Amino acid sequence: MRLMLEGVWKSFPGVLALRDVSFRLREGEIHALLGENGAGKSTLVQIIAGLCQPDSGRIQIDGRPVAFASPRDAIAAGVSAVQQDRNLIPRSSIGENILLERLPTRRGLVDVDQVHRKAKALLEKLNLEIDTRAEARTLSVAQMQIVEIAKALSQDARILLLDEPTASITERETKALFAILRQLRGRGVAVLFVSHRLEDIFEIADRVTVLRDGRNAATGEPIVGMSRAALVSLMVGGAERVAPTRARATDEGRVALQAIGLTTESGHKDVSFALHRGEILGLYGLVGSGRSELARALVGAGKITGGKVFVNGESARISGMSDALDRYRIGFISEDRKHEGLILGHSIQRNVAITVWRRLAGRLGLITDGMERRVVEPITTKLNVSTPSLQQNVETLSGGNQQKISIAKWLAASVEILIVDEPTAGIDINTKGYVHELLTEIASSGVSVLLISSDLSETVTLADRILIMHQYRIVGETISDHQYEKVRETIMTKIYQIDALA
Ligand SMILES: Nc1ncnc2c1ncn2[C@@H]1O[C@H](COP(=O)(O)OP(=O)(O)OP(=O)(O)O)[C@@H](O)[C@H]1O
Ligand SMILES: [Mg+2]
Repeated sequence: MRLMLEGVWKSFPGVLALRDVSFRLREGEIHALLGENGAGKSTLVQIIAGLCQPDSGRIQIDGRPVAFASPRDAIAAGVSAVQQDRNLIPRSSIGENILLERLPTRRGLVDVDQVHRKAKALLEKLNLEIDTRAEARTLSVAQMQIVEIAKALSQDARILLLDEPTASITERETKALFAILRQLRGRGVAVLFVSHRLEDIFEIADRVTVLRDGRNAATGEPIVGMSRAALVSLMVGGAERVAPTRARATDEGRVALQAIGLTTESGHKDVSFALHRGEILGLYGLVGSGRSELARALVGAGKITGGKVFVNGESARISGMSDALDRYRIGFISEDRKHEGLILGHSIQRNVAITVWRRLAGRLGLITDGMERRVVEPITTKLNVSTPSLQQNVETLSGGNQQKISIAKWLAASVEILIVDEPTAGIDINTKGYVHELLTEIASSGVSVLLISSDLSETVTLADRILIMHQYRIVGETISDHQYEKVRETIMTKIYQIDALA
């Protein structure tokens, strides 16, 4: 056994995150670690990676007991990890970030050329072509995800831990990652893989360990022969929630948000589209195609350098996210939940209520705790946020539960236009169905939704129409009849056609 955890317990204030958990990782296997949001997956990964210490329990690598006081110790013992939260150094170059733990040197000095050569080669294997000399802060969340993966791969680990590596990357990048993981498995590397995308699990994993409420619900069961329903039942203790797809009428006559010939500082050229009232318009493109940057420019978080934006038919100059909300009733669920979606250090209640303060304040301008709670509680209950109380600091929530809070506050806000970037990245399977229901519901009530998702099946399920973005341009558009295979083929053909012409 390459890695063995036995009887591991871990508590945080008010939460028992792991209760008597066991986990066994063999060499040359890809082992899935599954569970609902807050089940304890990241806590387990962090313990193995030396980021936090268990309260009790035994850990062995190759039969020898280990105790890591820091990630450095873990790396020295051959353990590399991609954590769920991105941790790149914003002002260092992409290349330096990737090779940080093993900077190549020549005559005692860092060999900068070699840093970038090595980093570039790793990224190309993962299908990402970017300038490795650029600063890490210029990357989108999806690109950062790939850079983090490259960084972990560069360490030639014997044990590789991946906490939701595919949450916001598209099928193409995921395929490239899986090809590499299969090679590593062939070389005897032991891989732990956390994901909420069950399709990924069935494609890549050999065995599965499931956590439910911090306890083992399965320990190393083989995936072969296991059904989706059985897996879901181990995770949630019941059946999968399937969102009903209802037919919706969109008001083609009324345009809520329109862009004409937009150019942006991040590089968009001649972007034009119209979002109708009550419509869900998907925006699909490969990682690096400029989807998120377009969303950010639309809400004033990125610079528009040419062209025009219209809201409800009137020319709009949106200066930032609060202006978007106050003057134009536009909400924005950012893919960067940690830095843009949440006010860190504040409670769940405050984070959700913030978008409705003006409405709550009333004549006296006072907002009581009770007023806030009445708005917040129904939404967090519906989204199944697992937390001891609404007063809990959002920073202590699990990744998926943080994502739920960043969605909840916009659902509370009663906006007319909602721009959502990766709404279900990192969200567990049943809550994902619920978020889909909610988005469909608000569109039915007349809200216009611009949906960005790297999960094409999600886009096809939800969207009425899909815009195809490639290299910062809109290269096509297709009506979605919600038939996945057909729509997927149309979109991919378009993207590859353009690539072939270039
Ligand atoms: N630093 C902390 N302080 C307090 N509670 C914490 C802390 N870190 C984690 N928790 C709690 O421990 C529990 C397990 O969290 P963990 O992040 O391991 O879940 P997860 O399975 O990774 O979920 P997700 O799918 O959402 O990423 C959660 O209830 C979480 O709120
Ligand atoms: Mg997690």
